[in-house]
Amino acid sequence: MNSNNCFNDKVAIITGAAQGMGAAYAQILAAAGTAVVVADINSEKAEAVAAAINADGGKALAIKLDVGAPESCNACAQQTKEGFGRIDYLVNNAGLLSSATAAPLNEIAIDDYQRIMNVNTNSVLFMTQAVAPIMEETGGGAIVNTSSIGAWQTTGIYSVSKAGVNALTLNLAHILAPKGIRMNAIAPGTVNTEGMQPIMSVEQMSQWTAMLGNPTGEVAEAAMISRVGVFLLSDQASYINGQILPVDGGTIARL
Ligand SMILES: NC(=O)c1ccc[n+]([C@@H]2O[C@H](COP(=O)([O-])OP(=O)(O)OC[C@H]3O[C@@H](n4cnc5c(N)ncnc54)[C@H](O)[C@@H]3O)[C@@H](O)[C@H]2O)c1
Repeated sequence: MNSNNCFNDKVAIITGAAQGMGAAYAQILAAAGTAVVVADINSEKAEAVAAAINADGGKALAIKLDVGAPESCNACAQQTKEGFGRIDYLVNNAGLLSSATAAPLNEIAIDDYQRIMNVNTNSVLFMTQAVAPIMEETGGGAIVNTSSIGAWQTTGIYSVSKAGVNALTLNLAHILAPKGIRMNAIAPGTVNTEGMQPIMSVEQMSQWTAMLGNPTGEVAEAAMISRVGVFLLSDQASYINGQILPVDGGTIARL
């Protein structure tokens, strides 16, 4: 991208950026000239992603973050402001894929339910409350949340948590628009990431996505999803607000 692009000299926080789609977001945005905060509960892996971006000539800072804890989200936003002076973009990407294999809703332990909802869903609110006032100081910004086509399925806590992300996206988009902040969400289909690999083999991912209705059975790689999220952050998407965009190879997943 050229030096006039909307990402040059801007600042982004990406949650869950130590691997998978989060790391892809960080790499794409850094290559476009944005200073990126690689925020993750796994600080060792976050440091490695940030170091690789810096070695490539980009600007990255790793911050240890637990998105399920409001105080950690506030600290991350403040550290970002101290380190880079402003916040223009937020990608709420962190999530617990392992929750797709949690116990059925009628039997799930309440502690597990609350922990998963905190990380997968409430985190969107915690991070937005922490970051939006800082975005406002420089005239606004853009936020992308990470839903899933699972939001339209009946696969238990994972579905419930992602349906919550959709509802937060619609509501927060309306409230934040007058402050110059847009919010959208992407709803990926099946993506071959480090988080998915312990759950199913690539062959099983392909069978799963075909079973869900993806006509080709093609499993996405992380960047195929993240680059769409980056488009939603960009000025080219300035009139897109409050949308949930499936990025799923044509899977029709609707209740
Ligand atoms: N992979 C898929 O097929 C798929 C499909 C639809 C939606 N999604 C969603 O996309 C997002 C990213 O998925 P992925 O496949 O790249 O996952 P991943 O498991 O590869 O990476 C998730 C990252 O989030 C971090 N994380 C977990 N809990 C955290 C916490 N409390 N605080 C901060 N960081 C935390 C992990 O350390 C990890 O680095 C998730 O929200 C997931 O639910 C994934």
